[in-house]
Amino acid sequence: KNIVILISGRGSNMEAIVKACAGEQWPARIAAVISNRPDAAGLAFAAAHGVPTVVVDHKAFADREAFDAELARQIDAFAPDLVVLAGFMRILTPGFTRHYEGRMLNIHPSLLPAFTGLHTHQRALQAGCQFAGATVHFVTAELDHGPIVAQAVAAVQPGDDEAALAARVLKLEHRMYPAAVRWFVEGQLGIADGRVRQLGGQA
Ligand code: GRF
Repeated sequence: KNIVILISGRGSNMEAIVKACAGEQWPARIAAVISNRPDAAGLAFAAAHGVPTVVVDHKAFADREAFDAELARQIDAFAPDLVVLAGFMRILTPGFTRHYEGRMLNIHPSLLPAFTGLHTHQRALQAGCQFAGATVHFVTAELDHGPIVAQAVAAVQPGDDEAALAARVLKLEHRMYPAAVRWFVEGQLGIADGRVRQLGGQA
């Protein structure tokens, strides 16, 4: 199976997936890592691990449609079975999400459906939540919605600030996201009638 991973920055989830794919000998390969930002730190890790990298700079396009069209062209050149959004910070057009329906995953740093959008940990702390976490979901047209595949929960601790909570959740992301991607490439995960169909597998 071919996996294409989209990043915008640090790329630590991408790194966890690249390592798990090689280390656990998945029936898959990371065909490419694509970034919308030329300065994304994760590009160096991918290149150092022999993964082809591509930059599609959103600033070079007049609108979202033009950007998404070129992004899809670049992605499809790698014939992906699965597209993995890993800290990819662009809102996607409905046409783009439809094109990858049932074969595009995202990780979002909250317990969805709470706290879609940005600054999730800060908002969870402000709301007095006692638990925070992250969600892996299939991507649909609506931002941070779509069928939920897996969630990881972290307890908020006294004195937590945004950075402390984010770091605790990120550690869980690095276990959960590779596990979810592995389910997909092993044929254990899909969607049917807009709902997750999971045939087995444990995080
Ligand atoms: C993660 O917290 C992820 O949940 C969110 O953006 C962050 C990306 O971090 N979508 P990284 O680029 O994977 O290190």
